[in-house]
Amino acid sequence: MEKIINIAIDGPSGAGKSTMAKRLAAELGFLYVDTGAMYRTIALYACRKGVDKEDRATIVSLLPEIRLDMAYGEDGTQQMLLNGENVSGLIRTSEISMYTSQVSAIPEVRAFLLEQQRSIGRSRSILMDGRDIGTVVLPEAQIKIYLTAAPEARADRRWKELHAKGEPDTYEAVLKDVIQRDWNDMHRDVAPLKQADDAILVDTTEYDLEGSYQLLLNTIKERM
Ligand code: DC
Repeated sequence: MEKIINIAIDGPSGAGKSTMAKRLAAELGFLYVDTGAMYRTIALYACRKGVDKEDRATIVSLLPEIRLDMAYGEDGTQQMLLNGENVSGLIRTSEISMYTSQVSAIPEVRAFLLEQQRSIGRSRSILMDGRDIGTVVLPEAQIKIYLTAAPEARADRRWKELHAKGEPDTYEAVLKDVIQRDWNDMHRDVAPLKQADDAILVDTTEYDLEGSYQLLLNTIKERM
């Protein structure tokens, strides 16, 4: 039987985790699991219900109504299904990003997703990205990467992405969001974003996308 390998990639928002994790997974023949999309989907559900993002009790009360499934396209792209509806195109707006940052700080929401996330890595090789993968979800992962870049570099990349999609956010607003989300992710009580003791730090501030990708690929191949 082929050996099952789990790779955990954590880091702040906008460090390029999902773009690179997706490509790396394809290169290695692993399944790519984007855990941020799972939190985003829960946020979308609560947001659609008109619940205030600070109203933890009501958000928790909605969890039993939520069924999350993941489907994979031919190219390995992860699709999020919310009670059977494909919501992949709806979970990447700035509004949902901010909402998700609050929702993901709720312990019951994290507990709701934990077993689902863990079980995926038991049966096959995966590359999973998030904030707490190396520390909480897959503490036994054979390879752990902490991928980061300076907030300004991350905001610049994010702003370009939004701009290309025609979203009107200014660079200053995007930078403010990045800093706010970093703070939320790093200071919450449960599973805050932090580098696992045994994770390799990869800082891509000075690299473009291709350079960052090669740096990551080499780092992983060395460990494999
Ligand atoms: O990676 P992303 O931007 O799609 O993540 C969206 C939000 O979800 C972000 O605020 C951090 C949170 N998140 C988390 O708390 N734990 C994870 N494993 C993944 C994401």
